Amino acid sequence: MTSTHVSEQNAGLRVMWTYIATGLAIFVLMLLVGIVTRASQAGWLPLDPGSFYSLLSLHGVGMIVAMAISGLGVLWYLARREMELDESIAFIAYGFFLAGTVCVIVSAIPGRYGSLWTMLYPLPFVGTYWPSWATGTWLIGNALVMLGFMLWCGQMLGALLARYGGVRGMLAVDYVLRNRDFTQSGKKPPPPQMFAAAITAFDGFITGTVGLVIGTALIVHWMDPSVALDPLWAKNLTYLFGHSFANLTMYMAVAGIYVGLPLCTKREYHTSPPLVVAWWGTLLFVIIAYFHHLYMDFVQMQWMQFVGEIASYLAAIPVVVVTVYGGVMLVHRSGMRWSLGAMFLYAGMIGWVVGGIAAVLDATIPANVDLHNTLWVPGHFHTYLLEGVLLFILGWVFVNLEQRAQAASGLLTRWLIGVGMFGGGALFLLGFYLAGAFGVPRRYAVEPAPGPFFASLATMGALIFLAGFVICGAEAWRLARLPKRQAVG
Ligand code: HEM
Repeated sequence: MTSTHVSEQNAGLRVMWTYIATGLAIFVLMLLVGIVTRASQAGWLPLDPGSFYSLLSLHGVGMIVAMAISGLGVLWYLARREMELDESIAFIAYGFFLAGTVCVIVSAIPGRYGSLWTMLYPLPFVGTYWPSWATGTWLIGNALVMLGFMLWCGQMLGALLARYGGVRGMLAVDYVLRNRDFTQSGKKPPPPQMFAAAITAFDGFITGTVGLVIGTALIVHWMDPSVALDPLWAKNLTYLFGHSFANLTMYMAVAGIYVGLPLCTKREYHTSPPLVVAWWGTLLFVIIAYFHHLYMDFVQMQWMQFVGEIASYLAAIPVVVVTVYGGVMLVHRSGMRWSLGAMFLYAGMIGWVVGGIAAVLDATIPANVDLHNTLWVPGHFHTYLLEGVLLFILGWVFVNLEQRAQAASGLLTRWLIGVGMFGGGALFLLGFYLAGAFGVPRRYAVEPAPGPFFASLATMGALIFLAGFVICGAEAWRLARLPKRQAVG
């Protein structure tokens, strides 16, 4: 390996570990905040509704940003192994993420901002129990995060287009439509993780633009309340931005499977035409699937509701099915050792499937009539975020630590972490699903019965999860301190 190559690789690793460490640090803080809010719904903690909503606002946006920063770090590193990417741009984007996160914390903790992150206009401006500056700081904080995200997406998109000679190459159009000519000419399609990068960058750029449009409109209204916004327009833009950004965190982290599982199984995850077509589905539909958040809005044009249902199916199902099928085939009869890295990646696929099914169910109009705005909704997204995105990130982290030290964790440690994080996590999630099935509304500081009963179960589950996560942190620390035996590819 030449010295230029080593310093290039170190630069990639610097970006990746800075992003992951920051994302996971924010995650830990938000995990504690989440447990406090769930314990308060259970009646275990005397939290007044104002403090509950401020903490929940912080938890919601903080968690999404935590997952996004970690996932973007992994994806940036993996993409940089295939093409030119300037490290300094990644650090400027990182600066925006940090500045945005600080603004959001200031606005929620001393400022007591409390109308959540996907709030409905004119909510953050009327009847508030917090000062006006807190609303402004919140909006500016979110806008800063979006600026960082767009910078990341812009850099990635530009590099991808240059590397693969335009959109056709980046999306492997000829590889799918003229497969024989393409393969006979000796060309190769981009590896699977580059589709995750392309879709994140392309849809992320649209998401960021929309987020900034609605963010700027809200900031203008905050500065001059005589400038009124159309509430339906505001809701459409808010959910296009909010739904897509949260959803994209999954597509960032999925890259960990394409590269991490092969390291565990010693087999390669190949690009195939079904995989490419599945990613095309996500590219096109993830951005309009948000219509399912507006099923109850009778003023929304009716055709959009049907498009929303179809798009929800097409954005999620093909890519989950093809990726997970490929992942399972990779593991099947590979003789893979169930190290922590492998466990996290595999369990993450299960979380992705379960959360995906619950999401698609909720996006189905007749089911949505019952499930809309019940705790089923946080049930589905906590499944794919906590037991999907987070596990993919931890899986990638552990695969790296294990390969670097050529070491693995003991059986007892793996059991303790498995029972804590998967068992405790499942109990925590069950609390949301069961309460949702009983019609308990989401986003209530004080829930009607049987909400508090399920919240108690969920809080116990969350505490067990926390115990598992603490052991996981200690194990990561132990592995990281072992001498380096091998560089990770
Ligand atoms: C064990 C860990 C966690 C606990 C105890 C927890 C707790 C909660 C609670 C109690 C709610 C409010 C539910 C409601 O009544 O609507 C909530 C909402 C939310 N959580 Fe979590 N959560 C956890 C993990 C996560 C993770 C990993 C993420 C994302 C990566 C996340 C993102 C969110 C979001 C986006 C909301 C919605 C906030 C809103 O309605 O605006 N949470 N969480």
